[in-house]
Amino acid sequence: MNKALAIVSLSVWTLSATAAETPQRLRDGYARAAGLAPAELSVTEGEAMYRRDGGRGRQCASCHTENPRRQGRTRAGKLIEPLAPSGNAARFTDAAKVEKWFGRNCSDVLGRACSAQEKANLIAWLMSIN
Ligand code: HEC
Repeated sequence: MNKALAIVSLSVWTLSATAAETPQRLRDGYARAAGLAPAELSVTEGEAMYRRDGGRGRQCASCHTENPRRQGRTRAGKLIEPLAPSGNAARFTDAAKVEKWFGRNCSDVLGRACSAQEKANLIAWLMSIN
């Protein structure tokens, strides 16, 4: 195989690998980025962030509801499928989608980006909900 072809195959492999993530792998990836082992994550902190008013009059729960196993609604009234993986198997299986929405929603609710530790804690909490 020549070098260019090897690089193309590697990128295709990388793309398909990131498209089929699991909540656990995403959680562990954010934990690693924060310099933490998965066992050092805080489910309590993840839940607290979800329910806390981010200082701009809203919370993650405003759209995703008090119970993330249930369907939520946007401010415009559009239905949002459940955020917890136990209520929606498609959650946390696509790294690009997860990053896109963490980006939008953290800045909307908190007025800043969420840290890797906050993302890892949130996923850890959502994974703990059965
Ligand atoms: C204004 C409404 C709204 C608020 C507030 C909100 N979200 Fe969301 N969230 C959405 C919508 C809309 C989507 C994309 C539609 C979908 O995936 O069902 C989404 C999707 C997501 C996803 C994508 C998960 C996946 O794998 O599909 C994550 C992660 C997420 N939100 C986290 C958060 C966090 C963390 C907060 C609080 C800091 C938050 N959201 C607050 C509306 C909101």
